[in-house]
Amino acid sequence: MFECAQNFFENFASYYLKMEENSEGESYFFKYRHTYDVVDYMKQLVRDKKEKDLYLTVAIFHDLGRFRQKEKYQAYNDYQTKFDHAEESVFILKENNWFLKNHVSLKEEQMLCFAISSHNKYQVEPGSKEEVELAGALRDADKLAVLKRPCYISNPIGEVSDEVYEMILQHKLVPHALIKTNADYALTEIAYIFDLVLPRSFEILREDNHLDLRFDLLKGSKRYEDIKCVINDYLSSH
Ligand SMILES: [Fe+2]
Repeated sequence: MFECAQNFFENFASYYLKMEENSEGESYFFKYRHTYDVVDYMKQLVRDKKEKDLYLTVAIFHDLGRFRQKEKYQAYNDYQTKFDHAEESVFILKENNWFLKNHVSLKEEQMLCFAISSHNKYQVEPGSKEEVELAGALRDADKLAVLKRPCYISNPIGEVSDEVYEMILQHKLVPHALIKTNADYALTEIAYIFDLVLPRSFEILREDNHLDLRFDLLKGSKRYEDIKCVINDYLSSH
């Protein structure tokens, strides 16, 4: 299944990549590369060979909708564009009859759609054990891939807002609506650790020193030491 999924993804992405003259910043290529980062992390998170095909397929498909989002709005922010790129990814697969053409069982189709739809939500909706596990692995791989790249914010960094700080103390993801400053943005990405579910994801996080870059950005903040303590305590307990 993954080979067919990769062929579809390559074909779909190539239409957008061909239009692009500059692959800097938030380009189509940026999302193309992110997709393969998520696939690579999924390879590390998958527990047995039986799961591999489905897990890699969900990874390569999860952000198909990003290409249309950028084409329409020249931006990748769901909150600002009011465009749900995850639902668009599912729509693209259905529009192309991908499941039918590739003889995917109804159960696997439902699992893939559930996980793709869930990957950008604040939390995973109730579902079957297998659906929730697949969605959890995708959300972990996606967050590890985001943390792997630099944090694209510029000076002034500003201070961490009270409401964002409160979310950190409660070990919660920060909703986009609360982001007011660049410091909030950097911290929002650090707070991804509160959503990780798989023990292997925490190991990868430690091995790759994923958070250091973002902590460096927050060094000027008055709450830097307190925040670092909360995050380190959380990490050492997982
Ligand atoms: Fe996404």
